[in-house]
Amino acid sequence: MKAENFETVIVETDLLILGGGMAACGAAFEASHWAKKHNRKIVLVDKAAMERSGAVAMGLSAINLYLGLKNGKNTIEDYVNYVKNDLMGITREDLVANIARHVDSTVHLFEKWGLPIWKDEEGNYINEGRWQIMIHGEAYKNIVSEAAKTALKELGENGRYYERVFITEPIMEGGRCIGAVGFSVREMKFYVFRARAVLDTMGGAVHVFRPRSVGEGLGRSWYPPFNSGASAYFTIRAGAEMTCQEVRFVPVRFKDSYGPVGAWFLLFKSRATNAKGEDYMEKRAKELEKWAPYGTVKPTPANLRNYLMLKEIEEGNGPIYMRTEEAIKKHVADIPDEKEARRKLKHLESEAWEDFLDMTISQALNWAAHNIMPEESPSEISACEPYFISSHSGASGAWVSGPADLGNSETSWGYDNLTTVPGLFAAGDASGASSHKFSSGSFTEGRIAGKAAIAYCVDNEITPGISDDQINELREMVFKPLATYDDNKDYANDPDVNPNFIKPKMFMFRLQKIMDEYAGGASVGFRTSEPLLKKGLEYLEFMKEDAGKLAASDMNELMRCWENIHRLWQAESHIRTMLFREETRWPGYYFRTDFPEMKSEWEVFANCKWDPGSDSWQMIKREVPGMITKKQEE
Ligand code: ADX
Repeated sequence: MKAENFETVIVETDLLILGGGMAACGAAFEASHWAKKHNRKIVLVDKAAMERSGAVAMGLSAINLYLGLKNGKNTIEDYVNYVKNDLMGITREDLVANIARHVDSTVHLFEKWGLPIWKDEEGNYINEGRWQIMIHGEAYKNIVSEAAKTALKELGENGRYYERVFITEPIMEGGRCIGAVGFSVREMKFYVFRARAVLDTMGGAVHVFRPRSVGEGLGRSWYPPFNSGASAYFTIRAGAEMTCQEVRFVPVRFKDSYGPVGAWFLLFKSRATNAKGEDYMEKRAKELEKWAPYGTVKPTPANLRNYLMLKEIEEGNGPIYMRTEEAIKKHVADIPDEKEARRKLKHLESEAWEDFLDMTISQALNWAAHNIMPEESPSEISACEPYFISSHSGASGAWVSGPADLGNSETSWGYDNLTTVPGLFAAGDASGASSHKFSSGSFTEGRIAGKAAIAYCVDNEITPGISDDQINELREMVFKPLATYDDNKDYANDPDVNPNFIKPKMFMFRLQKIMDEYAGGASVGFRTSEPLLKKGLEYLEFMKEDAGKLAASDMNELMRCWENIHRLWQAESHIRTMLFREETRWPGYYFRTDFPEMKSEWEVFANCKWDPGSDSWQMIKREVPGMITKKQEE
């Protein structure tokens, strides 16, 4: 496959939405409304097909963010406090509140578009937990993407979406982001997208760390294996300030198939125990005091729940079990009528299976394959490998502008969700420090960012130019792996082993090994230290050199090459930020053995920024802004 055979296609737009997941769909839906008003053009680009792309591709069994503000049980402040506590005090309250105050309307739209939400006899949503509602969500993403596509189609010539086009790199002009380049993974086309505003919604990153699923299980992960760090790469390379790049998420999941635990813990009120049947959350409650004030608040932060479980395993008390049989039995124990009890049991059983079938089919297969009946036997749970995702209980992403009414000059610099780079916006897993937005919040944040980005286009009429030289330079860079393969493929008789190049899969394995062993992966119990991190960074420097030798024999491998370059930059920013933060704040996500305590002087954001001019990194401490409610009262 020759690079020169790819046709260059130039696409011009006002707003360019990169990604096709929940945040991108929210952006397309909302921005279409404003684009129609102002006669603006929107182009959306997804590496896959929007019907089944992004984190919600497989479906979901719950919407984890719904406040139900109308029935008055929760307030925005309650939610902000919950999120802040879960992130051990490090969160952008203005961003979390901005999403929270708009999210209910998003959920109502989903329902209007056809998403079936569980209801009780009075027609109220059935809550899984305080903030979570249950859905029949196997086709969740299909429903949402259809609405986004319809909104774009209604713009006629002014609304376009491109699927199976992989974005590689931002286009910059004088410090401003003016578009992106990428290539089709189906046709011989090189795309140059020129835009007045670019919205990065390309998801988080998986497979930066060595996964627990190796060998025949490779590719099975909690987060979609196709989200490979494009968001972080894009904003870092554009020179944007990043935040919380150290805050990875280590989910606890049903072992090996990564089935969700939320329904079991919250809806069925199940306990998790060690092999002796001891509830480690109770047994080790005292250990949480060391992490006060956050450790002692309910619910216990996700990382600390992990931490207590990891300690059990360390002491040899595994396997750890979700006591499904006990939880189900408890729900029927008080029903005197035998027939009624049996009916209830059947109902619970089917809910349990649906929970997996809605979002993690492989976990249902795992149960079937191992003759597990949840009403009879417990199931193993385990801490997964680390992921970069700010929409769940992680926080990594770009440092973005928040709403003017909820922040100060440090947090608000004009347009909602604008990064520190002119013309570049971020939402969903691409924007940091606003965790727990989940699917509904990501869509909502996309709406907020999409609206702001159209306003930016209206206010900034400049038409950026891209020279032929710039296009050729980017083309050469993007297609280099094809040329490297072509020039050297005949040197060895094995297409995968060649002294003149490295294939993307090998490159990924090498990156994962470094991250796992030096940056606190699962195999070392999520522990790391300055000497280990420095050593890891040294190895990443070699990898950066080796990235220039990545080789691709076809379009698919070319995409894999770039996915791994994206992962590499996510990895580097992660190590650098863990190194910068000299404390342990999120044990259970990672533990600094050389700084095992949480320190008050580190109750700050650890931000980082790569300077494209000097190819150097800057580390920045930023204050955590105070309570929003105080500002509202002022
Ligand atoms: S899901 O994305 O796969 O559905 P998960 O199963 O972790 O997520 O949890 C669903 C929701 O329940 C999330 O909002 C999560 O924070 C919350 N959650 C899960 N387990 C617990 C727990 N033990 N205590 C409190 N909240 C929990």
